[in-house]
Amino acid sequence: MNLDIFAHRGVSINYPENTMAAFQAASKLPIAGIELDVHLTADKEVVVIHDETIDRTSNGSGYVKDFTLQQLRTFDFGSWFSREFGDEVIPTLGEVLELFAGTNHRINIELKTDIIAYEGIEALVLKEVAAQQMTERVIISSFNHESLQTISKIAPYIESAALFAEVLVDFPTYIALIPAKALHVSLPTSFRKSVKLALAEGATVRVYTVNEQRDARSLQQLGVQAIFTDDPEKILRALS
Ligand code: G3P
Ligand code: MG
Repeated sequence: MNLDIFAHRGVSINYPENTMAAFQAASKLPIAGIELDVHLTADKEVVVIHDETIDRTSNGSGYVKDFTLQQLRTFDFGSWFSREFGDEVIPTLGEVLELFAGTNHRINIELKTDIIAYEGIEALVLKEVAAQQMTERVIISSFNHESLQTISKIAPYIESAALFAEVLVDFPTYIALIPAKALHVSLPTSFRKSVKLALAEGATVRVYTVNEQRDARSLQQLGVQAIFTDDPEKILRALS
């Protein structure tokens, strides 16, 4: 059975996560797609970064929500990883979508609204996706399932996915309630009975974050549709 590979935050094993360098590397690989995380700036620009603050992945400090895009652009988002990436700046969602305009990769946009709600981010993300004519290629996921309800109301045709860090007893019934089309579960959760039951019911299951070849092979056996990995080339080798 085919197992789709998504580069988690780009090729984050070799490049600073969620930067154009990490996404450019992914765009050249024969994989299904990429995953990225988004937050909102003070001037309502959708930017690609994992944390609420820029402290861990830049030479600056503070919350994304308190900076304008122009201010954020003054920081170096690469040197924390390696000196050779000192020119990396925070990407906007639009820039990353544009990079993939000429490829067939799917783009999983994770709305990081579980800690800060970022009112209106759902509509802004959908606007960017529509502008790049990528409606068919995106998957919008979140740990904040209220965000997914908003996505479903505005754009019911978008593939949405509920992220889970915990084990539920009945995933399909829960995601139908949101509604969301797929479930994204953590690696430990993926081997539980409830995920097997969901797969048997025909649910689409994707698993984060899978960096070991033996786990990728086990998940392929299990019949999940996709995995998110920091090291897509290593996983490609495992499955070839
Ligand atoms: O979207 C899958 C995965 O990225 C969720 O966790 O913390 O890596 O964003 P995190
Ligand atoms: Mg993520």
